[in-house]
Amino acid sequence: MRNEEIKQLIEDYKKTGEPLLTLLHQVQDLYPENYLPAEALKLVSNELKIPISSLYSTVSFYSMFSLKPRGKHIIRVCSSPPCKLEEYDSLVEALGEKLHIGVGETTKDKQFTLEEQSCLGLCSLALVMMVDDDIYKNVNVAQLPEILDTYTEE
Ligand code: FES
Repeated sequence: MRNEEIKQLIEDYKKTGEPLLTLLHQVQDLYPENYLPAEALKLVSNELKIPISSLYSTVSFYSMFSLKPRGKHIIRVCSSPPCKLEEYDSLVEALGEKLHIGVGETTKDKQFTLEEQSCLGLCSLALVMMVDDDIYKNVNVAQLPEILDTYTEE
């Protein structure tokens, strides 16, 4: 079933000429575990005649992709200097206490994965955090419960 969906995405990709990254995003979005399994990359490689090593290089370069299963929601906290100077440590500590995970880990219920992210280009609004595609600027520890509730009520 998923192979058929991936093949359809590839057909659309061939017609539209979108960037390869867009296709890889769409394929990753098919997996609730937020990752690109080896068999999905193999299929893309075979269908598009792209060496599998090139796909792995691309996927490994961009932090938005993962080769291992992650949580339903990805929390990314910017760890570049302007954000790190703000409440970065307290925020990551508070997230760890609330979710019982550290950076790079996934909650037992597979709802959240916590990741570090390099600069998101909003340095004047540090500290910046993303949850999935949502951006939170000037974020602080006090805002965390409300932010996390947004994603746990689904
Ligand atoms: S350093 Fe965090 S957004 Fe640029």
